[in-house]
Amino acid sequence: MSKVTVVGAGKYGSTTAQRLAAMDIVDEVVMTDIVEGLPQGLALDMNQSRPVEKYRTLVVGTNDYADTAGSDVVVITAGLPRKPGMSRMDLLEVNAKIIKDVTQQIIKFSPEATLVIVTNPLDQMTTLAAEVSGLPHHKVLGQAGILDSSRLAHFLSEATGVDILEIDALTLGSHGPTMVPVPSQCSVAGKPLTDFLSEEEIQAILDRTRGGGGEIVALLKTGSAYYAPSSAAARMVAAIINDEKAMMPVCAWVSGEYGINDVYLGVPARLGKNGVEEVVVMDLTDDEVAALAEAAAAVKEKVDELHELDL
Ligand code: APR
Repeated sequence: MSKVTVVGAGKYGSTTAQRLAAMDIVDEVVMTDIVEGLPQGLALDMNQSRPVEKYRTLVVGTNDYADTAGSDVVVITAGLPRKPGMSRMDLLEVNAKIIKDVTQQIIKFSPEATLVIVTNPLDQMTTLAAEVSGLPHHKVLGQAGILDSSRLAHFLSEATGVDILEIDALTLGSHGPTMVPVPSQCSVAGKPLTDFLSEEEIQAILDRTRGGGGEIVALLKTGSAYYAPSSAAARMVAAIINDEKAMMPVCAWVSGEYGINDVYLGVPARLGKNGVEEVVVMDLTDDEVAALAEAAAAVKEKVDELHELDL
C-alpha cells in the first residue's frame, strides 16, 4: 500500500493533503496534528468530495503517530506561520522545537520515509530534520524553489501579458532575501525576458518575487500563503511517488556541485523514489554561480544560529 503522511492540518497541510488525494496516486494520505478533531474533521470533509471529484485516495485524520506507520513520503508543515512584520528568522526557535519533535515521532514509525519539509525558516528546518532523522541526505529535502519559480512566472505573465503556460521561470538559492533568480533559464514564449521587459522592470519583478511570501502575509494579516505552496509540495511528492526523475528546483543537500559543499540549498534536482536522485549542474552564468555561492554562505550562517539553540 502506498501512503503519504502530512504533518500539520493547518492551511498548508490540509491543502497539501487535499491536492495529493485528488491526484489519486497513493492509497492513503494520513493527516496528523496536535489539535484533536481537526485532522479527523477535515479528512471526513475531504473524503466526501471523492464521488464528485472522481478519485479514490482516502484521507485519514489522526492525532496518533502510530497511524502514520510505513509512510513512503512525509510532508512536514507543522509549525507557526509568519505574522505581519515577522521574518522567517523570528520563527526559528519555536518551529525548531516542533520540527525536532515531529521528526523523531515520524522516524520511529516510518524509518524508510522520504521527508519533504516546508515549515519556515526552510533551510534551517530542512537541515534540522536531516540531522534529527539520521536519514541519508538524499531522503530529506525542502520545498521553496518550485514556489518561488512559480511566483516569478506569475509576475512575468502579468507584466508581459503572455499566457502563464508560456512562461519558464527558475529561482535557486535560499527562500527569502537570498533567493537566486536565474535569468539565463527564464523565458517568455521561448524568448529572453529582455525582449519584453526593461532591466528595471525585470529587477522590480525579481524583488517582488523575493518578497512574494511577505506580500501575502501583509494582505492576509493572519497566516501565510498556502495555495501555491501546497501545489509545490504536492508536485514534489508526486515526482517521488511516481519515481519520475523529473527535474525541479528544491532545497537539497549540495556536496561539491557548483563548487559548493555541505549545505542544504535551492538547486535543480531530479526527484524519484529515492528522494533526490541527482543534483543537476546546469550551465549557469558566472554571476548566477556567484549568487548561489553567496546564498550558500548565508544559509551556513543561519545553520550556525540553529546549532546555538538549546532544543
Ligand atoms: N505536531 C503536529 N502539528 C502541529 C505541531 C506539532 N508539534 N505544532 C503545531 N502544529 C500544527 C498546528 O496545530 C496547526 O494546525 O501545525 C498547523 C499549522 O497550521 P497553520 O497555523 O495554518 O500554518 P500554515 O499556514 O499551515 O503554515 C505552516 O508552513 O509555510 C510554512 O511558514 C509556514 O511554518 C509555517 C508552516
